[in-house]
Amino acid sequence: MKNYFKPAVFLISLWPIYIISYQIFYNELGPEPVDRIINHFGEWTLIFIFITLSMSPLKKITKSSEWIKFRRMLGLFAFFYASIHMLSYVGLDYRFDFEPLIDDVLKKKFVFIGFSAWLLLIPLALTSSDKMVRLLKHNWKKLHKLIYVISIFGVLHFIWLSKTIYFKPLIFLIILIVLLLFRIKFNKSSIISNKN
Ligand code: HEM
Repeated sequence: MKNYFKPAVFLISLWPIYIISYQIFYNELGPEPVDRIINHFGEWTLIFIFITLSMSPLKKITKSSEWIKFRRMLGLFAFFYASIHMLSYVGLDYRFDFEPLIDDVLKKKFVFIGFSAWLLLIPLALTSSDKMVRLLKHNWKKLHKLIYVISIFGVLHFIWLSKTIYFKPLIFLIILIVLLLFRIKFNKSSIISNKN
């Protein structure tokens, strides 16, 4: 039965693609289709970053290491959606015209921080294989702590572009704080149990 979990999680993780394909096919993207597509993938990137970050707390809470099996796949989905998000902005909004685009990245702080978050995701995606885990040894864990910086950048990106911390950005901010508090709490308790 357990062998089916991974393919099932994989298929469920494609949900954002099904939704947007349906909306494109049935012409349901609304008056600003390009913004709708960019925002759709931006939001799902953040959701996948959060789901990936939840795997460790879930392992601790349920005392089952099964969750960790999905972490790499979910993290790669976060990178995948971040790349589609970025490419739809570059391709649909700017038609690959790089001059005004670079201007935007440098002038608008929300684009700059979003772009930085995407850049930071690249080394994590590139080092996600078992081979890289073995090769990098304890440095792998250190490197992958970048996911916390990325999640903070992602939420800041959302707050700055929304110009207000109202509703959706606020919900994402609260989830981020809860996940970071979990991290701090479990780090502290593992330090204490290591000392004992
Ligand atoms: C980890 C990386 C990223 C995350 C988590 C992320 C997340 C988000 C979120 C949550 C939104 C708002 C969605 C909504 O309003 O419902 C958004 C919008 C946006 N993002 Fe990102 N983003 C990332 C990377 C980038 C990159 C690399 C770029 C471009 C270089 C970018 C450009 C934009 C733009 C322009 C919008 C606003 C679209 C509009 O309303 O017109 N983002 N992003």
